[in-house]
Amino acid sequence: MDRIRIVGGARLNGRIPISGAKNAALPLMIASLLTAETLTLDNVPRLADVTLLKRILGNHGVDVAVAGKRAEQDAFAGETVKLTAGEIVDTLAPYDLVSRMRASFWVIGPLLARMGEAKVSLPGGCAIGTRPVDFFLDGLKALGATIEIEAGYVIAQAPAGGLKGARVSFPKASVGATHVILMAATLAEGETVIENAAREPEIVDLADCLTKMGAKIEGAGTSTIRVQGVARLHGARHSVLPDRIETGTYAIAVAMTGGEVLLEGARRDLLDAAFDVLVEAGVEVETTNEGVRVARNGHGLAPMNVVTAPYPGFPTDLQAQLMALAARAGGSSSITETIFENRFMHVQELVRLGAKIHLEGDVATIEGVDKLTGAPVMATDLRASVSLVIAGLAAEGETIVNRVYHLDRGFERLEAKLSQCGATIERLTG
Ligand code: EPZ
Repeated sequence: MDRIRIVGGARLNGRIPISGAKNAALPLMIASLLTAETLTLDNVPRLADVTLLKRILGNHGVDVAVAGKRAEQDAFAGETVKLTAGEIVDTLAPYDLVSRMRASFWVIGPLLARMGEAKVSLPGGCAIGTRPVDFFLDGLKALGATIEIEAGYVIAQAPAGGLKGARVSFPKASVGATHVILMAATLAEGETVIENAAREPEIVDLADCLTKMGAKIEGAGTSTIRVQGVARLHGARHSVLPDRIETGTYAIAVAMTGGEVLLEGARRDLLDAAFDVLVEAGVEVETTNEGVRVARNGHGLAPMNVVTAPYPGFPTDLQAQLMALAARAGGSSSITETIFENRFMHVQELVRLGAKIHLEGDVATIEGVDKLTGAPVMATDLRASVSLVIAGLAAEGETIVNRVYHLDRGFERLEAKLSQCGATIERLTG
């Protein structure tokens, strides 16, 4: 199994190109199920989750073609992916695929809207928490669907004549449930109003793409989204927005090691909450016409007090990375996780590198230390794994991060991007 070897201590200097957002690319690809015409997506990141979703969509009958070859001089450019769901050959999403990636459950919305039926495996729990699907099912029921759970599968059936527009009010904002009800509503008859909708930029990106496909949507990016259903959607071309979590991760890495890096193509406005925390801690952040420049030269870091929250709050997907940074700040920091109840697997691993962290319920208190020391570590989810990479970059000596497949799910060419800025980091294969 591949591992990442890091020898810490080097400052990061140079440029890091930011890829298309994984969490936008996945729902955008799933939206291709809504039309028989071709959806062309540019700036699709080259990630294991994207590859898996291509397979899942292929199972449903989507023709997936990648346009052009990666040019040698532009090794970090995203892919252009053409998805054509001319005919849906299967409305079943099996357990062995859905259990590997939770977002694949989201096919339930478009399949039900276009085909009137879907049988999709329940995704099950995962390392970061229980992650139920009740909001999705209640929302689809509000649109008129009949839902049965049988042998681990959700069997959904639209009423005769198809889904009907309705008011869907989520008990709390959910990214996935908002994506699914939004997609389903585009082809439902009449108006759907989604209340307490998630406001994440990836929701806005999906709504923009659906609008290009002929959907009638207002209010994406606010907590009330209105959709007027249309009879059919058509093909379109859309470019995936830059990955704000990748942006924040590298910004935190630079804050950790010191140095100066231009995050090419990054958009600060997608990540104000996190950049504000970094600025308060003493990191320089500047928006340029090429992206966002992040620097820390010489001075130390002030402690941080952060509570994760749905967008526009501080993202849970950067919580682990910030904890690595807090471990090197002066004084006592506190980080509260409010989105997922069990998203603290990195804590014990960071402690192995010398961090001082006290966990009580959903609050981690971190006492800054003068130095971290390299060690073998592993983590059980994507963002936890990358927090260990960040810690390793600043630790004395060698850190080996095991279970690299988690990183490959969400970070495109992580070692290449960091080593071109001066980090000593390599992949050990086998
Ligand atoms: C999305 O997950 C992201 N995944 C996650 O990123 C991210 O951490 C999360 O949103 C929060 O920002 C993708 O976009 C592919 P939610 P999602 O539904 O949609 C509860 C990463 O590392 N809930 O917004 O699954 C749920 O348990 C991943 O890239 C219900 O109770 O998250 C959680 O407490 C990890 N019932 C809260 O809502 C439901 O039916 C928010 O979760 C649905 C959700």
